[in-house]
Formats: sequence, structure tokens, C-alpha cells
Amino acid sequence: MIRKWPKATDTGRIVRLAEQGRPPIRFRLNGTECEALSGDTVLTAILLSEKALRRSEFGPESRAGFCLMGTCQDCWVWQEDGSRLRACTTFIAEGMGLKTDAPEEWQ
Ligand code: FES
Repeated sequence: MIRKWPKATDTGRIVRLAEQGRPPIRFRLNGTECEALSGDTVLTAILLSEKALRRSEFGPESRAGFCLMGTCQDCWVWQEDGSRLRACTTFIAEGMGLKTDAPEEWQ
């Protein structure tokens, strides 16, 4: 089952209200198949389905980005290969594999 980008009744942090006609992009989030739209940032793609991007390295708090323009460094998430990317300045791509939890060696 593919998790489609949510409608207004779903529970992500953000809700898509416009531009709903762009081509779909499939990606994995924590092993679950998801769908976003072409032109979405990784931050948008994740927050359409989740309340947060990741946990803070310094405490139990969840993080969801802050500046949304590549400055605050609050939105780093992991890819399945262990590398990180800045979610607010990276476009979602077909087949991308993302994780919201740090790899074990980070914890
Ligand atoms: S939200 Fe600030 S750098 Fe991404």
C-alpha cells in the first residue's frame, strides 16, 4: 500500500491546500512507501504525513524545521544510506529513501 500525500483530514503537520495537480513522486519514509508531488521539498513531503522531521540531538523534543530557507540547520534528516540532507532546500525525488531517526552510530 502506498501512503498518498494527505488530504485535509489527515494528521500531518501541514496540509496541502493548493497546487494539487503536479505529478506524483514516490519515496520511502522510515520504510513506508509514500507519495508527494513533483516540486515539493523533502520537508514538505515529510510534514504532509508526519508531525515532525526528526528528534533533537540534545533532548526529547521533535523538530520540524524553523527558517525554511536553509539557514537554521534544524531540518537535517537521514537517507537510507546513512547520509544526511537538509530537508528544506532539497527537492523530493522519485525513489528517495528517508529516515527521521538518526542511525545507531549517531545515538
Ligand atoms: S528549516 Fe532552517 S535550514 Fe531547513
